[in-house]
Amino acid sequence: MNLLLVVGARPNFMKVAPILEAIKQHNERISTTAADVSGLRETIRPVLVHTGQHYDELMSDAFFRDLNLPKPNVHLGVGSGSHAIQTADIMKKFEQVLLEQKPDVVGVVGDVNSTLACALVTAKISFDSAGSRPLIAHVEAGLRSFDRSMPEEINRLLTDHVSDLLFVTEESGLRNLRSEGILPQKIHFVGNTMIDALLALRSKADRSTILEELGLRSRMGSNGVDSPIHPYALLTLHRPANVDDRDTFLKILDGLEELAREYPIIFPLHPRTRQRIKEFGFGPRMDGTGIKDNARCSRNGRHGIILTDPMGYLNFLCLMEHASLVVTDSGGIQEETTILGTPCVTVRENTERPVTVESGTNAIAGTTTDTIKEAIRCQIVRQRKTCAPKNWDGHAAARIVDVLIRHHCEKRAVGPSLIPHAVSVEDKCPIHSSSPCQ
Ligand code: UD1
Repeated sequence: MNLLLVVGARPNFMKVAPILEAIKQHNERISTTAADVSGLRETIRPVLVHTGQHYDELMSDAFFRDLNLPKPNVHLGVGSGSHAIQTADIMKKFEQVLLEQKPDVVGVVGDVNSTLACALVTAKISFDSAGSRPLIAHVEAGLRSFDRSMPEEINRLLTDHVSDLLFVTEESGLRNLRSEGILPQKIHFVGNTMIDALLALRSKADRSTILEELGLRSRMGSNGVDSPIHPYALLTLHRPANVDDRDTFLKILDGLEELAREYPIIFPLHPRTRQRIKEFGFGPRMDGTGIKDNARCSRNGRHGIILTDPMGYLNFLCLMEHASLVVTDSGGIQEETTILGTPCVTVRENTERPVTVESGTNAIAGTTTDTIKEAIRCQIVRQRKTCAPKNWDGHAAARIVDVLIRHHCEKRAVGPSLIPHAVSVEDKCPIHSSSPCQ
């Protein structure tokens, strides 16, 4: 089975790495199994396509190293642009790749422009007069913020509605897809591949030296014991709705004022946010000395907002794990802090990941000064509480591979592997017996 996997932007990389690892393990397993009891002796040949939506060292290359991702087989090199230009550029280039590769399945992850662009091209491609095309598998399907002003919500809705296999991370995703009329046999509740990556790399991340580099912990003393970690908070903001408007950004910063008096707030900067801070002249508000990159906190614990370059995966995971509080407008960080047990304040009006609020550590604060302050006051005194939502157990990617293989073999038994547009094969999903898809 030929599987073309698409990555484009930073949050895609940690979702795809576990799928490639699960494919490797599957291929090794069947190559060493003499007798095939299941009848599913099918290897998967992955082709990794990077659209280039994120392209620089800190937004892309560093993640490939940390996650041990192979060099992409194909790089489209699209770069930045308006939504229309970026999406259209990816579509034009990806169509050529599809026509050359003719894969059986195209796998897309998450909700970024690359996800929708490649799903849309695959939905409309035709390899022959019968209209054969690859299956579209969407990893992280069904999430909904119900806020259509978010570009990601448009990407989620449209990607789900052209997909053939919808891999869901949480129960709200099942409800959303069913209420939108998606056939139940297309939906598979497999868990969260981003959490697979976190669980696989957590102990490696704990060996990161980022806490020492930021002056938040001293290196081992002569007694061989590390000093205690100085309490700190971690901040990320990158959504255009939060940082592109000066007044909104200012209200958010004012909401952080009390916290900044008590704690150093480590703030790794997305390129857009760095640009806005310079444009709006916010540097001096941050740490009293202007924009400082990779600033160190003093031993006795400097407070204020400490600006740094974007962090790699392992350093950021280490910082999330040990933070007293995370304040963010990211989607994935809400999920990662749930598993880590780190209290999280989400600077948005809504979340597409309600499980992080229901069973996790996440509070939705809105974007006004008072609501942010209030959420921070509540969350900072909250007991650390680890919570593993259903199927967030490190095996989501293995379940995905299993569904793909079974689906492919069933289809091959009844017809060509490149199937015409409508797909409905009943899911067997044997790894997780309580999966609603059974
Ligand atoms: C994209 C996703 C968003 C995700 C975020 C993670 C969409 C619609 N949005 O938003 O869901 O949360 O990635 O970061 O797909 N830039 C660089 N270097 C890079 C990449 C970008 O400097 O490697 C700068 C460019 O100036 C660019 C800006 O960052 O204009 C934004 O990049 P873009 O890909 O348009 O979207 P993100 O805001 O990163």
